[in-house]
Amino acid sequence: MELHAKASESAIENNATLSDPATPVHRYSLIQRGRSLYHGLWFRLSEGLRWSRRPYHETPIGCLSGLAHWQVARIDELQARYDVRFESHYGGHTALANYTYLDLLDQAWVCTNRPAFHGIAVTDVGCANFWYARTLHVFFRPRTLTGVDVEGFRLYPSGYSRYDAAHGYIAELPRTSFLVENYCEVERRTDVITAWFPFVTPSPVLAWRLPLTVFSPARLLHRIARNLTSQGIFFMVNQGTEEAAIAASYCRRAGLRFMDQWIHARPLRARPHPPVASWWTTT
Ligand SMILES: C[S@@+](CC[C@H](N)C(=O)[O-])C[C@H]1O[C@@H](n2cnc3c(N)ncnc32)[C@H](O)[C@@H]1O
Repeated sequence: MELHAKASESAIENNATLSDPATPVHRYSLIQRGRSLYHGLWFRLSEGLRWSRRPYHETPIGCLSGLAHWQVARIDELQARYDVRFESHYGGHTALANYTYLDLLDQAWVCTNRPAFHGIAVTDVGCANFWYARTLHVFFRPRTLTGVDVEGFRLYPSGYSRYDAAHGYIAELPRTSFLVENYCEVERRTDVITAWFPFVTPSPVLAWRLPLTVFSPARLLHRIARNLTSQGIFFMVNQGTEEAAIAASYCRRAGLRFMDQWIHARPLRARPHPPVASWWTTT
């Protein structure tokens, strides 16, 4: 049996308009609704408790191992170009994940002949614990860097929260902050807004153990469009071309103008679908 629901329960809970024409109707099964309720309980509990011990720092692995020749060669290039060694700061998983995001940014900009942005304000929307803040920092060399996530206090088995992890990741980065907010309600003009794998379909929301109340892509993209400065750029990365097409339709409906797209055929860390990068503007 399937129940019909509007794309976001948040539309109901946040008193947002149910007649938002940019929000398509989704059908949620009873199981999905049950999971959403369950995740919602934990979400509200953690946001209510706001558990925090102290900034959590990963133990650096020092040296990455077990990589293929092409991965080592590419990492060497990135280290030389950006003067960065993620393995001196993080464990192996986070270090390789950071090289993967930096590789994508570097190749995407080079392959599309985009001018570099430096000294500007950058906001990353849906940054999780902002484990890739250092990547954004070395790539954009921003005036300010802000990571925003609606979920700030998820508790990890280590006893630290997402907030603690985020504060560990940004500790050494100048002019960098982590904001626990629903971006749909954030008012902050920014030159560059980035979003890595934003939710544009409901299933990943549940897979991330979040309630469907946080699923509101139309509102999110409208807010991104509204917060961009006149010459500003929205840079988005989606999982595969199908998801990228869905995300693109939300962007267009939010009034964003498509500039370019680039598909990463061979990411440093394999993914089930190739990452698709795209650039958007309001002018
Ligand atoms: C698929 S995850 C991607 C996380 C991160 N960008 C990465 O690449 O690892 C999507 C993230 O967006 C966050 N999110 C979803 N809706 C949001 C909103 N309205 N405002 C801020 N963050 C949001 C979720 O909490 C989650 O951390």
